[in-house]
Amino acid sequence: MKKILFQLDTDPIPNTFDTVVAYDGGAAHVSCRGNIKPSTVGTMVDGAVFTRPPKHKKNTALFITGSNMGEGEAVLASIRNHFFGDFRVSVMLDSNGSNSTAAAAVAYIGQHMKMAGKRAVVLAGTGPVGQRAAVMLAQEGADVVLTSRRVDRAATACEAMRRRFGVDLRPAAAGEPESMREALRGVNILLATGAAGVQLLPEDMWKDLPDLEILIDANATPPLGIQGIDLMDRATPKHRKLCYGAIGFGGFKLEVHRACIAKLFESNDQVLDAPEIYALAKAMMAAR
Ligand SMILES: NC(=O)c1ccc[n+]([C@@H]2O[C@H](COP(=O)([O-])OP(=O)(O)OC[C@H]3O[C@@H](n4cnc5c(N)ncnc54)[C@H](OP(=O)(O)O)[C@@H]3O)[C@@H](O)[C@H]2O)c1
Repeated sequence: MKKILFQLDTDPIPNTFDTVVAYDGGAAHVSCRGNIKPSTVGTMVDGAVFTRPPKHKKNTALFITGSNMGEGEAVLASIRNHFFGDFRVSVMLDSNGSNSTAAAAVAYIGQHMKMAGKRAVVLAGTGPVGQRAAVMLAQEGADVVLTSRRVDRAATACEAMRRRFGVDLRPAAAGEPESMREALRGVNILLATGAAGVQLLPEDMWKDLPDLEILIDANATPPLGIQGIDLMDRATPKHRKLCYGAIGFGGFKLEVHRACIAKLFESNDQVLDAPEIYALAKAMMAAR
């Protein structure tokens, strides 16, 4: 039976990156819909769950995409509310590649250290990738600071992740050099998840930080988020710290993303969000 994936994007125009990965992950047909809202997704869920007999339901799956994490979460909640009994199909939430990108980055960190007890700073962590990375770091036992140009935005993101995953994150402002220095005090793990093409941190602000062990920059669009990190860096030592650039860990992100799509078609009862996607990334990293 044909593997059909419904890509449900909260933005008006569905993200083509996610469509390509959906095919590469094993979907035989990807049906893309934009402008998906919690209030309108119900008819699509009905069509997905009522059409195939129980043993074939695993061949239909849902993939929530789009640039807004909160909207994606609301669509996921609405979809789950529509499921009952075995009238369900597997669903994955990965707004802006949030979970797969964060999972790949944090799984690389785990290659180098135990994160429990470390101080981690997620710079510009208010976007989808930063929020999910902060959750994964916190669930590994790190003491996580999530920054924004505005502390109220950081606090809102931390509260959203506390409600969703029960993690305690610490909000901080880092829009000015002084507040950035304060946020980076004692940092061991630094993950930059700022918008594409925005430099967040000059090299002279991180190169002499005495406790900093590892830096990862998710931004692949020049100028990069952390000055001094190269796009292709993968565990590259600089200033006695390990550095990862966006493409350096991005290949593994794509592997994780494709594996998640493939996993959706293994059964009809999975919900893949941050914990599930991170668990898969860790298992894949361990098997390398
Ligand atoms: N390497 C990979 O495989 C991969 C995959 C997916 C995404 N990415 C990249 O990962 C990064 C994070 O993605 P995302 O979707 O989470 O990001 P996003 O939502 O576009 O931006 C994250 C945060 O950046 C801050 N920001 C925006 N403009 C800024 C400016 N001019 N100056 C300083 N801060 C600014 C904002 O925080 P505040 O307003 O709160 O300050 C925003 O919430 C992006 O660079 C994206 O391209 C990489």
